[in-house]
Amino acid sequence: MTTTLAIANQKGGVAKTTTVASLGAALAEMGHKVLLVDLDPQACLTFSLGIDPEDLELSVHHVLTKGMDPLEVIIETDDGVDLLPATIELARAEADLLTRTGREHVIKSALESLEEELAEDGNAYDWVLLDCPPSLGVLTVAALTAAQGVLVPLQCETLSHRGVGQLLDTVHDVRRFTNRKLEVWGVLPTLYDGRTNHARTVLETISDTYDLEVIEPPIPKTIKFAEAPAAGRSILATSRSNKGAVAYREVAANLVTRSQRPRKKAAPKKKAKA
Ligand SMILES: Nc1ncnc2c1ncn2[C@@H]1O[C@H](COP(=O)(O)OP(=O)(O)OP(=O)(O)O)[C@@H](O)[C@H]1O
Ligand SMILES: [Mg+2]
Repeated sequence: MTTTLAIANQKGGVAKTTTVASLGAALAEMGHKVLLVDLDPQACLTFSLGIDPEDLELSVHHVLTKGMDPLEVIIETDDGVDLLPATIELARAEADLLTRTGREHVIKSALESLEEELAEDGNAYDWVLLDCPPSLGVLTVAALTAAQGVLVPLQCETLSHRGVGQLLDTVHDVRRFTNRKLEVWGVLPTLYDGRTNHARTVLETISDTYDLEVIEPPIPKTIKFAEAPAAGRSILATSRSNKGAVAYREVAANLVTRSQRPRKKAAPKKKAKA
């Protein structure tokens, strides 16, 4: 069965894309079949996997707005994962979708038909990771609608919790209206400097305030992450034994364990108050 996770936080630069690329590579190393979906018009995920978005004729935009079969668009990457790439055209998709009925379901229905098609040959993905843009717009809501779980990368600094409440409100709305089974898998501390008490205090405050699981281990801050995208490979390939690569491998192993928990049944619909 495929596990679909949205990696979301409307705050920019908290390592969403790095997390998607690194977890994808770590899961592939463990022998899992992985699809990464770039949902950011900036196409940073696509670029960091060694593909120049400007060379692409087809992208996720064609799947979401023109109903194209994802199999015609998916490309294999050197990191051992498959990618549904993005280009700047996705910015237009966001605008096009705004006026469409059922826009929240576009990613879900594309992934469902892909899964059916692949399952016929016993070839379905084990994991689909959705790299959300830094906003709570149409694409993030559609990603949350398609996912079983959401993972929230979070940089542990004083103001980082300010956006978390807003993201959880969106998750709550998605649960009410479009995806009753969505679960918050937890926050993943990124760019973590464990030498400071500050980072630890912020993390404790956030997990207490919002009653969220903290995914272990935190991802340490290391310069290697800045270098990896230029090589078109994730840090797991460019610096195999770097502490950041090791941390992402451990997180991936913990997510695999988590994915084996029984899935949540959809909560029964509450009766409207009289
Ligand atoms: N653990 C880390 N240590 C040091 N630098 C990191 C780490 N993780 C990510 N970075 C760097 O931080 C920057 C932002 O990372 P990334 O692009 O993954 O964030 P993002 O949340 O996807 O950003 P956006 O909101 O713009 O999509 C990048 O330059 C990346 O190389
Ligand atoms: Mg990003």
